[in-house]
Amino acid sequence: MQVLRTALLSERVRVRGMHICPSILTADFCRLGEVVEEAIDAGIEWVHLDVMDGNWVVNKTITFGPAVVRSIRERIGPEVFLDCHLMVTNAAQTWDQYVDAGVDLVIAHIEAVDDFPALIANLHGADCEAGLVMNPATGLEDILPLLPDLDLVLVMSVVPGKGGQSFMPEVEPKIRALRAAIDVQIAAGGRATKLMIDGGIKAHNIAQVQEWGIEASVIGSGLINDNASIADNLAEIQAALRA
Ligand code: DX5
Ligand code: ZN
Repeated sequence: MQVLRTALLSERVRVRGMHICPSILTADFCRLGEVVEEAIDAGIEWVHLDVMDGNWVVNKTITFGPAVVRSIRERIGPEVFLDCHLMVTNAAQTWDQYVDAGVDLVIAHIEAVDDFPALIANLHGADCEAGLVMNPATGLEDILPLLPDLDLVLVMSVVPGKGGQSFMPEVEPKIRALRAAIDVQIAAGGRATKLMIDGGIKAHNIAQVQEWGIEASVIGSGLINDNASIADNLAEIQAALRA
């Protein structure tokens, strides 16, 4: 089902194959349902949910947990693809709460999980896609051996903790190396692991990261802000991809 849903993501919001995945961290949380619906009305088909537990991120902030994820899933229905980015100390113990709440993909930090292969197996056993996310300073050594089993790798281009931070271009070599490894894997008949980026992506740099090999971009403050509607911000981002 999840695989089918991903395959069905329309070309409408995938200019030259790039998925645009809003992060709702800069939304007014009293209006969360309306904001997500506004994004969907603008054509969004993949929403990124940033879970922070008040402990794992450097700024010790709390966002929301499974109850809010469940409410979003119930509000938007089954068709929109939902991922949760777990910035928590105990992803290996709590992943199932997010699967139960209705996400299609759980993305856990390599830095926070001791036995990542076990987590991947658990997620796949629960019919959920498995994603791995790495901080800007984390190297690829421990990640490349996991690639054959991962549905997605997310490279953080800010230190996780809040929206609206500046993009860190120094992640370029890591992204290019992952792109090359995934392309080799696909050419050998292996899994088409998706490559995603998160942090500081806006109209001015999205074409650049696409050229590095990114196919899914998380965008928070660049989409949900006081300057313009989500539809207008999305149009600007899509225009940058077409340019
Ligand atoms: C950062 C989160 C991101 C972030 C994206 O810790 O994982 O998803 O909020 O927001 P922008 O696009 O504003 O950097
Ligand atoms: Zn995120």
